[in-house]
Amino acid sequence: MGRVVYINGDYMDEADAKISVFDRGFLFADSIYEVLPVYHGRPYFVDRHLERLETSLTSAKINMPKLDWSSLFQDLITKNGGGDLQIYLQITRGNQGVRKHDIPNNLTPTIVAYTLHTPYPTYIEKQQGLQACLVEDIRWLRCDIKTTSLIANILLNDEAVSQGANTALLLRDGYITEGSTSNVFAVDADGIIRTPPKNNFCLPGITRQLAIELITSLQWPLHEENMTKDSLLSSQEVWITSTTKEIYPVTRIDSVTIGQGTAGHYWQQLNEKYQQLVKETDEKK
Ligand code: PDD
Repeated sequence: MGRVVYINGDYMDEADAKISVFDRGFLFADSIYEVLPVYHGRPYFVDRHLERLETSLTSAKINMPKLDWSSLFQDLITKNGGGDLQIYLQITRGNQGVRKHDIPNNLTPTIVAYTLHTPYPTYIEKQQGLQACLVEDIRWLRCDIKTTSLIANILLNDEAVSQGANTALLLRDGYITEGSTSNVFAVDADGIIRTPPKNNFCLPGITRQLAIELITSLQWPLHEENMTKDSLLSSQEVWITSTTKEIYPVTRIDSVTIGQGTAGHYWQQLNEKYQQLVKETDEKK
């Protein structure tokens, strides 16, 4: 018995979880997804993730299914043993029964959800930090849509991984957009924190927004503005943020050591705040 997977209203063993070869999600990556964090058996930031899901679906001209999402998530977590994990949710335009590009009328979306069991990074791991490579952002111009069309992200990430790094940071026209699977923050020598603005060049990360709210509560100066490669490389701290990586220091970019080459003191405080948010309280909106 493997994972329990949800497809279109039914729960089944992962071995029985099958999608048609004519599903547009499979044919064209014509599909939207979300990854939600689960800590101690409870889903977090559900409203924020559902709001982004609806925004992405609307941009993709797919109707938001009307479901009791909270029950679905809780059932899935319980059936898969609870604990600390993530929920993966994918909604495709549906099974058209034929390969045809035109968007058909009245197609019923395919809804798939299952649990991911990626361990959250430990404090020790985060203290060491990640190594990143800067690569040219060759993706399309709607990176704000959380689509499963991720081949560009995958190839960019591979450019970094094949050089021995952990992740890629992306540069478009000389400015940082985001990471291949994350958003980016940097602290300059004066303690000013920067993150690229929300626009069509990056995903509006939920962890990014949470980090912004925590930084604001700490009354640290924060600018949502474009960052050049040089300003990134001369930062005293750089972090990436994502649901699975939480807030994770980057201590080396290409051949440049960031700060002292370990997690910095701004990160220490912010990480502590984030851990309080996800580990000590009940379900958060
Ligand atoms: N990815 N930017 C990109 C390109 C991403 O793929 C992700 C997350 C983020 C961060 O978004 P959030 O904070 O909402 O997780 C930014 C998920 C985790 C993934 O594809 O697995």
